[in-house]
Amino acid sequence: MAKLLYSATASLDGYIAGPGGDMSWLTEHLEAENPTAERLLADIGAILVGNRTFGGDDPNRGTDKEGAFGGQYQGPVFVLTHRPPAEPDPGVTFVGDLHGAVAQAREAAGDRYVNILGADVAKQCIRAGLLDEILIFFAPVLLGGGVRMFDDPGGTEVRLAPIPGETAHWYRVVH
Ligand SMILES: NC(=O)c1ccc[n+]([C@@H]2O[C@H](COP(=O)([O-])OP(=O)(O)OC[C@H]3O[C@@H](n4cnc5c(N)ncnc54)[C@H](OP(=O)(O)O)[C@@H]3O)[C@@H](O)[C@H]2O)c1
Repeated sequence: MAKLLYSATASLDGYIAGPGGDMSWLTEHLEAENPTAERLLADIGAILVGNRTFGGDDPNRGTDKEGAFGGQYQGPVFVLTHRPPAEPDPGVTFVGDLHGAVAQAREAAGDRYVNILGADVAKQCIRAGLLDEILIFFAPVLLGGGVRMFDDPGGTEVRLAPIPGETAHWYRVVH
């Protein structure tokens, strides 16, 4: 069955978006070579994305690098939202509940990863005991504020175990 992975690039102070959802800081870091990200990309069978990420800032909008993984991801996309658009969007499925979205994304991903994009959705997956792995790339920048990589005031401790052989911050969630 497909595993659920939360991946993101974060600033060293732990933000995945800057103040006001600014993502312009990410561009130069996406241009750097990243063999782990390339390996991951080949192993993603579906993306499950929160609607704030889906509709959020993309410095590459209007270019061929627009979208997840600098425009390189071409597979199925599931968007979690309470407000699906009136018009269909090719290649995108809008789903209104977490468990339904995870089930559809897992089905689409086969034996590859469902990659979660969006801290809010990732938090819900952790709380529901659905998340299998976390992979964070750190960018050498301090953003000072914005959307935290993981924010769950009052949440409980979640133990993580390094994935053997991985040098990146790639962990298995210990259930
Ligand atoms: N640096 C990186 O690698 C990276 C990666 C991904 C995202 N980001 C950034 O992170 C920010 C977004 O993250 P976020 O944590 O604020 O939000 P998010 O997880 O992307 O999206 C949250 C939204 O998803 C919908 N949603 C969430 N749970 C739902 C549920 N159970 N049922 C139905 N709908 C649900 C709601 O949208 P509705 O209001 O439509 O219902 C909610 O407001 C953006 O600025 C984005 O650019 C950065």
